[in-house]
Amino acid sequence: MDARKSPATNGQQIRLHVLRYNPADPASVPRMQTYELEQTEGMTLFIALSEIREKQDPSLQFDFVCRAGICGSCAMIVNGRPTLACRTLTNEVGPDITLAPLPFFELLCDLSVDTGTWMRGMSERVHGWLHMKDRKPDLSRVEEAMDPDLADKIYELDRCIECGCCVAACGTARMREDFVGAVGLNRVARFRLDPRDARTDADYYDVIGDDDGIFGCMSLLACHDVCPKELPLETQIAFLRRKMVKMGFQRREWSDSATRPLDSAHVTRIPVTGSTRGPEKG
Ligand code: SF4
Ligand code: F3S
Ligand code: FES
Repeated sequence: MDARKSPATNGQQIRLHVLRYNPADPASVPRMQTYELEQTEGMTLFIALSEIREKQDPSLQFDFVCRAGICGSCAMIVNGRPTLACRTLTNEVGPDITLAPLPFFELLCDLSVDTGTWMRGMSERVHGWLHMKDRKPDLSRVEEAMDPDLADKIYELDRCIECGCCVAACGTARMREDFVGAVGLNRVARFRLDPRDARTDADYYDVIGDDDGIFGCMSLLACHDVCPKELPLETQIAFLRRKMVKMGFQRREWSDSATRPLDSAHVTRIPVTGSTRGPEKG
């Protein structure tokens, strides 16, 4: 909650100042539109916007699916900060609330943006899926147990809902169109932990070892501050950077040396759907 504001109380009038614009309509010009409604018990921005659309303005566009902080579709800028509208209580951000669409992503209309296309591109860029050690799963085999502590660590990073808040808050993303963002770096960190994934740091270096990946990140940490799932982005990015710096030095040593290590996973590149066995993770 903004400390300078006193919270809106039930029964009080609140005002939503919404940035309206439809890029598909040549006659549309960006403008702020104010809607007034009554604060009610437990009112979220989802409830407020739905009430406005129902009772005041059916043309207002915004996205919601789960209303429970799970789907990531309702991210928007609330009073200047990227967050999930369905998890934001109006009495904590009102009585005057300014809403704008997430920057960086393609604007569809009003508060609705297309994060999906960008997220797909990011996923392809970082090869953000499991590269199984066994190319063909043996369905007759007994399921392998995973160490519960490791499973918890992977699960913690897997909680990312691809809402786009971290990208919208990141200065590097504004400067570098192809920067994979904290969401992309978190995705790599997640698979790097996974013992079922065949890839090595040499493989991860190939996809994020440049200025569009880990070395583009300037440690601004807005991603960490705004992530609505409170993912440990600061720690993960710092850890990944150390590993990739180490790999960069190893690469330089190898290229400076006539004899490269013969057992290095780097000698045999792992294809996107590869099955080559890699060394232990760590
Ligand atoms: Fe959203 Fe956090 Fe995932 Fe970024 S890392 S997309 S802020 S859940
Ligand atoms: Fe951006 Fe987060 Fe790095 S805000 S610069 S990805 S630490
Ligand atoms: Fe799904 Fe908000 S509607 S996260």
